[in-house]
Amino acid sequence: MTEHAPRIEVVGNVSAIAERAAAHVIARLHDRQPVTLGLATGATMTPLYARLVAATRAGLISFRTVSSFNLDEYVGLAPQSPGSFHAYMQQHLFRHVDMEAGRAQIPNGSADDIAAEAARYEAQIAAAGGIDLLILGIGANGHIGFNEPGSDFASRTREVRLDEATRIANAINFPDPASVPERAITMGVATILEARSILLVARGPEKAAAIAAAIEGPITAACPASALRLHGNVDILCDEPAAAALTRRPHNNNRRRA
Ligand code: F6R
Repeated sequence: MTEHAPRIEVVGNVSAIAERAAAHVIARLHDRQPVTLGLATGATMTPLYARLVAATRAGLISFRTVSSFNLDEYVGLAPQSPGSFHAYMQQHLFRHVDMEAGRAQIPNGSADDIAAEAARYEAQIAAAGGIDLLILGIGANGHIGFNEPGSDFASRTREVRLDEATRIANAINFPDPASVPERAITMGVATILEARSILLVARGPEKAAAIAAAIEGPITAACPASALRLHGNVDILCDEPAAAALTRRPHNNNRRRA
């Protein structure tokens, strides 16, 4: 097990971090197309997607030859259900960019057989030639995708039970915490680690402990994001509050911006 140091960049605030994350993705889209992206949902991603939409509208980038695979979806929610990640992605990205229909993949949480859906999703990622750039958020408990603490590093796309803390954190998109689904389908840790490059974005003080554990703590299933240190090509973008618990602040070739 070889440990690698992720490239860490600390940027000032929410707007700056979205700007940096968007610049990272835009550079990747300019670099080589076609490109296959892995995509996350959630509050951290919303301003990033807004910037990608603006860049598309300004003619700076195009999604015409982009394919994408989302990390996860709730089990039991129909795609058109407002709390679903299908609905989130339509609202914040897909509806506004020139992506070809059928190129944007999200696990089907309303499939009758979730295990079969998970196997189909894995096969689809493989058939696409894998993921070039996977964009991740991080849970306050250190989850990546919906790989909650305890997730095996060898795990692949599968059905999982969500931690209570995750359901509470995600209740904002539902009428009340009790209506947040208890289960989800998520890419596994091993699926995530197969992406050729990874960008993790973290913002806010509630992510500080998870970021410190992921970067400075032991590499352990208790903090799924610590698995990213087994990957040699990871960029981590944090705002100041999310970086606050790091004892070794980025320096030298790890750039730090005000
Ligand atoms: C969502 C996902 C999650 C989120 C994480 C952070 O598709 O995979 O891992 O990235 O829960 O969510 P926010 O950004 O809402 O704090």
